[in-house]
Amino acid sequence: MRTETSAGRSAVVIGGASGIGAATADLLAARGWHVVCADIADPPDQSDAVGRGLDGPGPDRPERDNREVDDRAVGGADDAPGSMRHRYADATRLADLRRVVAEADAIAPLKALVFSAGAERHGDVLAEDGTIWDQMIDVNLTAAYLSARAGIPLLIANGGGSVVVLSSVQGIATEPGNAGYAAAKAGAMGLVRAMALDHGRQGVRVNAVAPGTVDTPLVRRNAAAVRPEDPDAVLAGWGELHALGRVARSSEIAAVVAFLVSDEASFVTGATWTVDGGLLASYG
Ligand SMILES: NC(=O)c1ccc[n+]([C@@H]2O[C@H](COP(=O)([O-])OP(=O)(O)OC[C@H]3O[C@@H](n4cnc5c(N)ncnc54)[C@H](O)[C@@H]3O)[C@@H](O)[C@H]2O)c1
Repeated sequence: MRTETSAGRSAVVIGGASGIGAATADLLAARGWHVVCADIADPPDQSDAVGRGLDGPGPDRPERDNREVDDRAVGGADDAPGSMRHRYADATRLADLRRVVAEADAIAPLKALVFSAGAERHGDVLAEDGTIWDQMIDVNLTAAYLSARAGIPLLIANGGGSVVVLSSVQGIATEPGNAGYAAAKAGAMGLVRAMALDHGRQGVRVNAVAPGTVDTPLVRRNAAAVRPEDPDAVLAGWGELHALGRVARSSEIAAVVAFLVSDEASFVTGATWTVDGGLLASYG
């Protein structure tokens, strides 16, 4: 459905090849946004198919600047103008991010930036040699900062816009052995508050979304690590921790992100939206 508010606007979804990012990209495009997905992984056939996450090309990979992965128009001739492009971009590299936001802004004024890249590796502060810590901070927090650094100048130049950063309930309450991820996700909430204060008067709203457990390739990898022979049972068990008795679908998180970038959320900034099926309502 083409809406007045989204027509002629572009959005960049970082981490848009998989899971919550892919679902958000699909929903925004369906609502008429021109969407550029930025990711280190190729988009799978389906949003919730198993992606590669950090198992994708590493820091030593050759540059693949502006590699065109997939272009498709999702709106009909008389319907939404939404289009979708997938571009290779490493969110830990400012130059990659600047390239994709500039490409989106050339299609239509950039009005939304969604940061949904991420990875989760477990370990306490004594784990390994600090590699897990560095990786968790780099991809979940520093990359969010770099994405904002790339995108916010264009949002300001376009008269304002919206940034949404995918944090996690793990940034509010965590579990043993998840130090790097918990710290990065808590940091993302602080970063969101700071950016909301710094850029509110320039018309830029900045919010975080903190999901509970969502059925995505990231979570399926975690479930398979716990019980390779039956990850579905692991997911069902995690679902029981939520008041709703199940984990979320990516589309349920995407719906909140899409609201936050819409004009309907025009007075919402500096906030963390917990979308956790009641997970944090319980202490036991
Ligand atoms: N799935 C959950 O239960 C859950 C819960 C809370 C928060 N989150 C957060 O939501 C976000 C999306 O998670 P998801 O579950 O959809 O995971 P996912 O693995 O399905 O998707 C994450 C995407 O990020 C991409 N990515 C990783 N490193 C990147 C980099 N350096 N540059 C560009 N792209 C990169 C991956 O390739 C992947 O496509 C993450 O920040 C995650 O921490 C997820």
